[in-house]
Order: sequence, then C-alpha cells, then structure tokens
Amino acid sequence: MTPSGLHEVLLRHADERDLTKRAEYEAVGGYRALTTALRTDPGELVESLLASGLRGRGGAGFPMGRKASFIPKPDQTPNPIYLTVNADESEPGTFKDRELMLRIPHAVIEGIVITCHAIGAETAFVYLRGEYATEFDVMAAALDEAHEAGYVGPGIAGTDTNVTIVIHRGAGAYICGEETALLESLEGKRGQPRSKPPFPAISGVYASPTLINNVETIATVPTIVGMGGEEYAKLGVENSAGTRLFSLSGNVVKGGNYELELGTPLRELIYDLGGGIPDGRALKAVIPGGSSVPVLTADEVDTALDFDAMAQAGTMLGSGAVIVIDERACMVQLGLRVAQFYMHESCGKCTPCREGTRWMVQILRKLEAGEAEQGELDLLLNVCDRILGNCLCPLGDAAAMPIASYVAKFREEYQRHIDEGGCPFGGESSLEGVVAPVDQHHAHLRGQIEVPIHA
Ligand SMILES: Cc1cc2nc3c(=O)[nH]c(=O)nc-3n(C[C@H](O)[C@H](O)[C@H](O)COP(=O)(O)O)c2cc1C
Ligand code: SF4
Repeated sequence: MTPSGLHEVLLRHADERDLTKRAEYEAVGGYRALTTALRTDPGELVESLLASGLRGRGGAGFPMGRKASFIPKPDQTPNPIYLTVNADESEPGTFKDRELMLRIPHAVIEGIVITCHAIGAETAFVYLRGEYATEFDVMAAALDEAHEAGYVGPGIAGTDTNVTIVIHRGAGAYICGEETALLESLEGKRGQPRSKPPFPAISGVYASPTLINNVETIATVPTIVGMGGEEYAKLGVENSAGTRLFSLSGNVVKGGNYELELGTPLRELIYDLGGGIPDGRALKAVIPGGSSVPVLTADEVDTALDFDAMAQAGTMLGSGAVIVIDERACMVQLGLRVAQFYMHESCGKCTPCREGTRWMVQILRKLEAGEAEQGELDLLLNVCDRILGNCLCPLGDAAAMPIASYVAKFREEYQRHIDEGGCPFGGESSLEGVVAPVDQHHAHLRGQIEVPIHA
C-alpha cells in the first residue's frame, strides 16, 4: 500500500496491459481462479466468500457470502437458480462500474462464472445501464472471447459446469437499479419495485431463486478465490474488508476513480490523490456515497471511508461516489437540484415518495426564490420525516435523507433565504441555473417556466 492510501487489487495490471484482451488477462493470472473454483465444492466457495467479509458494492453493503447462502441448493428448489449482475450504475456521482467493465471485463465474467458455480446457477443476466453503449460493446467482445476459450458455455474448463451469460440493456431509469424493479424490467415489465418478502433469493427473476450483486462485488470474486477469503479479509478494516473503487467528482482538481483500501480517510482521497479544491478555495461539504446519502461538512473530512465510520458520522458509504462541494455552492440550490432528480425518478407506486418528492421541490423552489415564509423550513423537514421509513423501496429515503441533512447542517444558510427574501449568493453560486434538464423539458412541453405541483 502506498502512503496515499491507493491500493490496487481489482485494477492491478490494468495500467500496464490491455486487460480487455483475454490473452493479456490470462498472462497476469486471469481465469486461474475460475479453474480452481470449478474444482472446489460450491459450499466451500460460499464459505470463502463469507470469510472474506466482502460487502456489496452497490449501495446497501450487505455481505455477499450471506446473501449467497440464502439461495436454496439446486436440489431444494424445482426452479432454476439465477445470478443477476446489477450494472445499472444509476446513482448520481457513480462511475466506477463502467471503468471495471471497460478495463477488466474478463474479471467481471470470471466472477460471474465462479459465482454461478457457487450457487448452482446456469444462467446469469447482466442488467446494463442503457446509456452504456461502449461498455456493452466491450463486455460483449470479452464474452465472445471467453466463449471461444471455453470459460463460458457448456462443460466449462472440462468440468460439468454450464453457464450462459446474457447481457440485457436497460432503457434508462434510476429506479431500475433497485433490485426488484430491475427484475421486473428484466422480465419485460414496467420497472417498479416489488414488495418484499419474498426476497429475490427465494423468488427473483421468473419467480425463481436469484442472487443479485453489483458489478464491483462480482468482479472481486476471482481475487477472493485467488487469495483465499481469510487473506482478503485482512485488507481494509473491521467490518469493511477489502478495497473499493471511489468515484471522486465535483470541485476537486483530479476527479476520477481511485481504488483504495477501506478505512482510508476521506481527506487523503480529496487532498492527496484528488489534488484538493481548485484555486485554493475552501471545502464546504462532501457527499460521501452518492446523491442519496446525508452530507458531511468540511470539518468531518477526516472520517474514514469505511461502513462503520460513515455510519457513526450519520451517513453512508453508499455507492462509493464522493462529491466534493466548495464554498461557492448554495446549499438550497443543491437541495433543489437533488430533490428534482428524485421527483423525476420516483416511480409513483407509493404515495409518500410520489407526493413527498414534489412537495420537497415546491418548498425548495420557494426558498430559493425568496418566497418562503417562516416555518417552511420546518415544513420541509416534516415532509422528509413523513417520507422516511414509509415507502415501498429505499428511493423515498434516498430522496428525504440528503435534503434533511442539508437543512440540519446548513440551517443558517437556508434560514437566510427566508430572512433576506432571496438567495444570499446573489446569482454567484456555482450551482446557479444548474437545474434538472427534465425540468426545462417539462416547462417547454407545458409552455411555462415552472413544473406545476399539486400540493
Ligand atoms: C433507487 C435505487 C437505485 C439503485 N441503483 C443501483 C445501481 O445502479 N447499481 C447497483 O449495483 N445497486 C443499486 N441499488 C442497490 C440494489 O438494490 C442492490 O442492493 C444491489 O444491486 C445489490 O448488490 P450488492 O449487494 O452487490 O451491492 C439501488 C437501490 C435503489 C433503492
Ligand atoms: S419509494 Fe418511490 S420509487 Fe420506490 S416504490 Fe415508492 S414511489 Fe416507487
């Protein structure tokens, strides 16, 4: 590990070689874990995943081995077992799965085949974000190469393991990253979440047992098989084993993906690796895990990038998207922009989320325009409160949590919008005019400036 915290496990060799080519991937030991795994008892593989401490990299951080252990054994179910890889990558600020698919597609494929063997699945779906056209091409080409070499298909590597991989392209909806909406979409239906239970492990795609994991989670599996679960668990810190790819963006000099050992302080990522804030400006806030998570203030920048430290700071590691915000940003404008996104992406299936996200946008708009009355900040918090924990899927919470945190941590700035009858930035905020494109689109369609809100 370098002093900067940079620690490449998944992306090792990716700078030196073109790992999209099977021969290059094999030259650095690629597909060796698959050969080992196919000769290992599936139960042992699941044990190794449990021992590794690998937690899902998609957002919720659920231990992968535990989720795999919930899948019934092939002789315990009349239905086929499926693996679904979540490559929707829709959380704002997140762009790590695309790098994995573009640079190490064979690691994703190898991870899929090993995981299929571990859970007794013969079919895996990769649900790929619709906009990821190049990623589709790279993954499809790697899949062809893997087929040619006998790593995918019938009788893999001379064993009786058969795995078919289907890459399914989504049509572009944030909610289709939520696992049950993803399953609906995969089945050709409207992408809306299902109520749980039953959980996908019991009744997932085509009402059959289904394991759903994020691209990065699956791409880590060959490393775990190669190193052994216990060795992998030594990377990172307690309860947060291994490395993660963090997508660094916003007001930072060198944005990009950085693979770090979990437990690395946020400050190292932003300042040592990311080069700090441009032009010597001051840090104001950091969103540490994608737009759905509560914000951290500048004085919380020493928080470690691990699940527990983030929870103690009242936020989450989420999808690993670190968004840096400097002093020029108006936090009301940020709240409005984020709330607009969730309003647009709400699938409308349950009332608190469908209506609540619109209420939030309406109040935030009034605040920014200087038209809000005393008491409307508390009304905004009240709306957040009524959404939190009352929705069918986590999108509702994902909309309410960040907004409630902006008000809690920057209340004075919110209050000034009321007291001063307008935005204290006077048109100089870095987010001035940055509104959801959909808002402009709606306004255009309706021939008016504002989206009508029926409160
Ligand atoms: C609204 C919403 C969007 C989500 N989007 C994604 C996504 O784009 N990619 C992803 O891997 N997980 C996403 N998730 C999390 C998935 O529901 C699920 O937890 C994850 O795919 C499980 O994989 P993991 O355990 O490997 O993290 C989303 C969840 C919600 C509620
Ligand atoms: S919380 Fe929102 S996105 Fe989720 S089911 Fe309800 S309306 Fe749909």
